[in-house]
Formats: sequence, C-alpha cells, structure tokens
Amino acid sequence: MFPDRAPSNPIFCALDRADPEAVLGLARQLRGRVGGFKLGLEFFLANGPDGVRAVAAEGMPLFLDLKLHDIPNTVAGAVRAIARLPVAMTTLHASGGAAMLRAARRARDESGTPLRLLAVTVLTSLEEPDLAALGMTGEVTDRVLRLAAVALEAGIDGLVCSPLEVAAVRARFGDAPLLVVPGIRPAAGPDDQKRTASASAALGAGADILVIGRPITAAADPRAAADGIRRGLAEAV
Ligand code: C5P
Repeated sequence: MFPDRAPSNPIFCALDRADPEAVLGLARQLRGRVGGFKLGLEFFLANGPDGVRAVAAEGMPLFLDLKLHDIPNTVAGAVRAIARLPVAMTTLHASGGAAMLRAARRARDESGTPLRLLAVTVLTSLEEPDLAALGMTGEVTDRVLRLAAVALEAGIDGLVCSPLEVAAVRARFGDAPLLVVPGIRPAAGPDDQKRTASASAALGAGADILVIGRPITAAADPRAAADGIRRGLAEAV
C-alpha cells in the first residue's frame, strides 16, 4: 500500500474529479503506469471515506490531499480520522503553525499507522505579486524554506513545494524530508499553475514524488500521456 522512499515510478496522478465513475475509470486505465494516485478535496467532498476505499481497492498507493489548516485540536481529530483510511500520505498547511503541526504528528503517532504527513509550503499557483497582495513580501524561496523549517522541526515527514524550490530545500535540509512536487508542466502553460517545471527537471533537482494531474487526465489518451512522461524521465536519468 505504501510507496517506497525511492519509488520505481515517482508519478502520482492527481485524479481531480468529483464523479466516482470517472475517477475509477482513470484509476483502472492508469494502474501500473503511475506510482500512485492523489485524491483531493473535490473527490473527497463528493464521495467521502467510502469513495477513498473504492479507489484504494484498485491496489495503488493513495495520497489524500486535504490540506488541513485549523486549530491544533481540530487538525489532530482530522488526522485521526484520515489515519483510519487506506491512504499513504496526507497534507496540512505549514502556515497553520508549529502547535498545529505537532498536534497532527502526535495524532498520527498515536494512531499507530504509517500515514505520512506532508506540509504544504507555498501553493504552486501563487507567485510573488499574489503573495505581496496578501501582505507577504519577500522571495518565495525564502518563505518556502522558513515554512519548511517550522514543519520539519515539528516532526512532519515531508514537504510539498514547487519544482522551483526543490534544489534549495534539499540544499538546506538534506535527503531526509520526503519531497512531493506538483506544478509539473512540459512548458509554462496557460492554466492556474505558475511556479512550474518539467518532470525531469523536478526529479533532477531532488524531488521524490511528482504530482501530475491535468497533463495526464486531460490528455486525449491518459495512458499514452503517463507513459510518455515516464519515458522522458527514464531518458533524462
Ligand atoms: O492538474 P495539476 O497537475 O495542476 O494538478 C496538481 C495537483 O496538485 C492538484 O490536485 C493540486 O491540488 C495539487 N497541489 C498543488 N500545489 C500544491 C499542493 C497540491 O498544485 N502546493
């Protein structure tokens, strides 16, 4: 159920759909071609724990990306509930602060499951002007490193950051944190992802897991798209 530290296939496909049949259809097409699947809020709010169990029954590692951000007691309760599901990884916002992150880790430890907790640093859809509009000035990379330090000090297992910060995070924190990287695009595209790079650039910089959604799921042939990205990675290595 749980991915190796260095999975033979680092691609986790984001199945961002509400319709369970559409998600199961994609999961069946992509099973064995990617390293695992990511389910997010769209799927979870529509289908709940039973929907997660149905996708888990396809036999691939699952990443449940719920990006928790609340007071420590509430987040601890949410982590306890997630730990009862057949998922390998889940997310919480590093900006929830040290007490929230520590409460999440305690709840996971007490659950006795190998659920991995990942702290989201700065969403890959934000750039410096977006952050400045929120009163957050300075370099995105500095902000990512600061949030990463708080999360890792609180005992969180890994980080979600954009491909553009992977090298800086590795340089500062070494090999230990699991680095999960969305914002993968063949070229800067016209959608909502802004801090992007190619799959091979992200992996080359030190990412462990690449989260790839629309480049696979919106392709005319998702299987061919997944195979193409994997071939590109193998050639780059
Ligand atoms: O379709 P796309 O490749 O943009 O999908 C990326 C996935 O990664 C989405 O499900 C999105 O919610 C998620 N994600 C992200 N940025 C983060 C954390 C998660 O894009 N910082």
